[in-house]
Amino acid sequence: MSETSPRLRAVLEGIPTYKPGKPAAAGGPASFKLSSNENPYPPLPGVMESALAAAGTLNRYPDMAATELMNELSERFAVPVSHLATGTGSVGVAQQLLQITAGPGDEVIYPWRSFEAYPIVVRISGAAAVEIPLTPEETHDFDAMADAITERTRLIFVCNPNNPTGTVAHRDELERFLDRVPGDVLVVLDEAYREFNRDLDVPDGIDLYRDRPNVCVLRTFSKAYGLAGLRIGFAIAHEPVATGLRKTAVPFGVSQLAQDAAVASLRSEDELLDRVASLVTERARVVEALRAQGWTVPETQANFVWLRLGERTTDFAEACARAGVVVRPFAGEGVRTTVAEVEANDLFLKAAEKFRQEL
Ligand SMILES: Cc1ncc(COP(=O)(O)O)c(C=O)c1O
Repeated sequence: MSETSPRLRAVLEGIPTYKPGKPAAAGGPASFKLSSNENPYPPLPGVMESALAAAGTLNRYPDMAATELMNELSERFAVPVSHLATGTGSVGVAQQLLQITAGPGDEVIYPWRSFEAYPIVVRISGAAAVEIPLTPEETHDFDAMADAITERTRLIFVCNPNNPTGTVAHRDELERFLDRVPGDVLVVLDEAYREFNRDLDVPDGIDLYRDRPNVCVLRTFSKAYGLAGLRIGFAIAHEPVATGLRKTAVPFGVSQLAQDAAVASLRSEDELLDRVASLVTERARVVEALRAQGWTVPETQANFVWLRLGERTTDFAEACARAGVVVRPFAGEGVRTTVAEVEANDLFLKAAEKFRQEL
C-alpha cells in the first residue's frame, strides 16, 4: 500500500467536526434529549400520512424543483417562486450561501457564541471567520459587527433568535445595522426559531428582505414544524442569490418525503402552532422557575434556555445527565437546554435546583 494519502484542502485542518447533541441514554431511568432543540411532539397524523404515501415512490427521484412546496411557500409568504430555494436543512442552505459568496481571501462576520455550524461552513469555504462577541446581555453587538465590515466582507450571519442564548434583535437596531451594510454584502437572517418568538419588537425577516436585495432569510421545518429528521429548510432571497442557491443545490437533495411532509405541515399549521404555543407556555414556566432558584437567565424567544455557567458547565451537564436529561454543554461557557415535554422540563428544573443548592 502507498505511504501517501490524497492531498486534501489545507482549510480542513482547522475545521471542527459538527457535534450533534448527545442522544438520550438507552434504558435505565427516564431519559430525555434536551440537547438539539428538537420538537418533542411526534409528526401530526396528516403529516405522517403524506410522508408514508411518498415512501411508496422511493424508487423515483424527487421533484427537483420542489414545485408543490415552492407554490405553497410562495403563497404563504407572498414571495415569488423565483425568490425561494430549498436545501437539506437550513444548515445545507447556509453552506450553499457560503459557496455562492465567499472563498479564500474573503471574510464572513457572525456573532459569537452563536449557531455552531457557522464556523464550520465558513471555514469550509476557505473564507476567514470574523467572530464578534455577544454583548454582556448575550445579544448581537451590531455596532461591532458593522465596524468589522471591510472590503473583503462577503456575508454576515444574524441569528434571530440567537442559538444558544435565545436572545433577540429588535427592529430598530437591526434596521440601523442593515443600513450600514454595503449593498454588495449578503446579510443572512437565520430565523430557525422564528415561530417561538413572542416579542412584538422582533421584525419578521421577510419584511426586511422585501426592499433589500442583499438580505436573505433562512427558515427551517426542523424546529416548530417538527421535521428535523427529514432535513428540509429554505431561503427567501432576491435574485441572483436565489438563483445561485438553485445552482449549488445537491441534485435531488431534498427527498419527496421531506417535500410532501413540509407541504402537509404548512397545511396543518394551526395545529402545529398550537403545539408551539404550549412550548412557549412551558418556556415561561421554566424561565420563571430557574430565576426563582436564583439563576440568571437571559430573556429567550426560542425553544431553549441558556445558562452561562462558565467553569461549572461540564459539571452541570453531568448532573443533568444523572437526573435523566441530556443538555447541551459548551465547555467553559454555558449550557443550552431545550424546552420540551413537561416531564422532561421538571426533571431539568429539579437537577438545576439541586446543583444550585450544592454550590
Ligand atoms: C440557528 C440555527 N440555524 C439553523 C439550524 C439548522 O437547522 P436545520 O439544518 O435542521 O434546518 C439550527 C439547528 O439547530 C439552528 O440552531
